[in-house]
Amino acid sequence: LPLNGKKVLITAGPTHEAIDPVRFLGNRSSGTMGFELAKNAASLGAEVILVSGPTNLQVENDLIKLLRVTSAQEMYDTCHQHYKDVDIAICAAAVADYRPKHVAKEKMKKKDGDLHIELERNPDILFALGEAKNKQFLVGFALETENELENAKGKLQRKNLDAIVLNSLKDDGAGFGGNTNKITFIDKNLDIKTFALKTKPEVALDIWKEIISRIHA
Ligand code: C5P
Repeated sequence: LPLNGKKVLITAGPTHEAIDPVRFLGNRSSGTMGFELAKNAASLGAEVILVSGPTNLQVENDLIKLLRVTSAQEMYDTCHQHYKDVDIAICAAAVADYRPKHVAKEKMKKKDGDLHIELERNPDILFALGEAKNKQFLVGFALETENELENAKGKLQRKNLDAIVLNSLKDDGAGFGGNTNKITFIDKNLDIKTFALKTKPEVALDIWKEIISRIHA
């Protein structure tokens, strides 16, 4: 199998950023794309570490070690613990860019008037993995609504990636929520390949074929 002996790290799902013990900031990522990438990698022979934010998804596979995390900071820490041992890393998680600066210890009481919650930046996991890169083939995702190709190429270079998967929200059925996706794969030589609208399992296989052709090149 093409990924025999390879170790793969994949991030998936949203992150939840605590406001108080019962509330959080989050997003609508289902985790499907990351889980499909993990299942595909395992069926291609890889040993997979799947770091997932809160999702309803499950996976039963001896080759997949599922590590569940809640916040971006936890996802960051967990990725760094495993990164140096992996050959390929794919960041498919929808990481919250911001978190509440102060987390209330007790459930916040409602008061008259507006509430302001101050937010601070979360670490960019993919950027940090790009900085720490030695042998890893590193892949990111980009979800863009305008100047898609230019923005994706910018991310590829800024984050020191080997490839980026662009999904455009302009395409019906692409991106969050659904079970279909339409992607463009861009590698660091700016070689660009656009795919048709497909199911997420099919998209995952297309992505793996592109990665495999480059790591064995
Ligand atoms: O910069 P932007 O958030 O659009 O980049 C998206 C890519 O970066 C995705 O691969 C996502 O998983 C990753 N990312 C990350 N940590 C963040 C923000 C984004 O790993 N804090």
